[in-house]
Amino acid sequence: MRKKMVAGNWKMNGGLASNESLLQQLRSVDVSRAGMVVFPPFPYLQQCVDHAAGSGLEIGAQDLSEFENGAYTGEVSGGMLAELGCRYVLVGHSERRTLHGETNEQVARKAVAAHRAGLVPVVCVGETRAERESERTEAVIGSQLAALLGVAGSDVLASAVLAYEPVWAIGTGLTASPEQAQEVHAFIRTRVAAVDASRASTLQILYGGSVKGANAATLFAMPDVDGGLVGGASLVATEFLEIHRAAAFAA
Ligand code: PGA
Repeated sequence: MRKKMVAGNWKMNGGLASNESLLQQLRSVDVSRAGMVVFPPFPYLQQCVDHAAGSGLEIGAQDLSEFENGAYTGEVSGGMLAELGCRYVLVGHSERRTLHGETNEQVARKAVAAHRAGLVPVVCVGETRAERESERTEAVIGSQLAALLGVAGSDVLASAVLAYEPVWAIGTGLTASPEQAQEVHAFIRTRVAAVDASRASTLQILYGGSVKGANAATLFAMPDVDGGLVGGASLVATEFLEIHRAAAFAA
């Protein structure tokens, strides 16, 4: 059985004092049944790595450069993140795709860069509301995956986690129904299976988009939903711990 995990994307939120109090509450988490990773902004990574040391809590970054080093002002490489003690990195979050114009191919190259640095890329895919309404969900996610599978290949897949985040559900309070999530997760797993059947069965696929304590259990009960990528609710310790409990006790 695949182990569940919950991932907290802090986005551009936090501060030294509030991070410390949040981490104090999260660091005693029991990760024997479900993992936990948080993704703070770059300036706080060292603080969070230090606070999480000796606990089961893992730390990841929200983005990385596709390059290893060089004249890329403002960019951060996978090697730098790994050296700092990060284990995970988000790749291709919809806010990066929309606000920073990241293409499917660039996202795939970032996943390769993460893998080369020894990080676990959490690669995000998902459709917009207009794409869902025009019944293009599978076509859109299919091409996001095709770029990933084509550029990155099974090596990268071996260390990756995927996250299905319908853009219309991110930060909107609208959540995909458990059935809608399951349908897309099963589609993703089938596409991966076409490239690597054994990897498809062990691949963790997280759901993201307005996950809360109140809806986590029904989402995580779906057979292909292996946990959640949580934005807003990951900034509130009680709420995030409730989501983690739902993952730990999901069937
Ligand atoms: P949300 O964000 O949980 O606030 O909808 C999810 C995400 O962007 O990863």
